[in-house]
Amino acid sequence: MKKIRIAIQKSGRLNEDSLQILKDCGISIDNGKDQLKASSRNFPLEVFYLRNGDIPQYLRDGVVDIAIIGENVLIEKGEDISIAEKLGFSKCKVSLAVPKSVKYNSVKDFEGKKIATSYPNTVKNYLDSKGVKADLHIISGSVEIAPNIGLADAICDIVSSGSTLFKNNLKEVEVMLTSEAVLAVSPQISQEGTELLEKLRFRIQSVLRARQ
Ligand code: PRP
Ligand code: MG
Repeated sequence: MKKIRIAIQKSGRLNEDSLQILKDCGISIDNGKDQLKASSRNFPLEVFYLRNGDIPQYLRDGVVDIAIIGENVLIEKGEDISIAEKLGFSKCKVSLAVPKSVKYNSVKDFEGKKIATSYPNTVKNYLDSKGVKADLHIISGSVEIAPNIGLADAICDIVSSGSTLFKNNLKEVEVMLTSEAVLAVSPQISQEGTELLEKLRFRIQSVLRARQ
């Protein structure tokens, strides 16, 4: 029998909640966290543990049929990928922040400034919409350290509890978007895949209703 292939985050904040929602759907997965692939015993599903940032491309290429991923990642690199369901967990913001000591007036203050980020498209679109031109410095993690080591004037990154900003003496000054985990669908999903997706969605919807 054909299995639906789902990508979930390999490690990080989404991983646990993604596995939990599958579990709440009555889907048991034989884990093996060190294995990059796992199967369910009681639902025709195969799990691929992947890096967040790679998931949009895997969906696009049809290597996986569906994924649990942050909406923020789709906005950054997967605007062509459709969302079947919002999942209500892993809520966060993608925000611009500056050192606490900086007096901040408006988004115009970013003109000509150096911003460190892992979300270049999101920042560029946001600043373009405000008519502001900044110099983006792309790094893939530990972004909040950049102003402290003289690498940038400001940062753009995910804000969840706000503790990373706080610990690095930064303050949030612009919220560019809010995000939560979503169920995303490959544009290449087959007819059989779509039928399995509908079964899974039915279960997810009842889990989400029960969580309310
Ligand atoms: C993420 C994100 C922020 C932080 C936000 O980083 O990049 O830095 O979490 O969460 P908070 O507001 O609750 O502090 P993560 O710890 O996943 O590490 P990374 O940036 O090195 O990938
Ligand atoms: Mg971080």
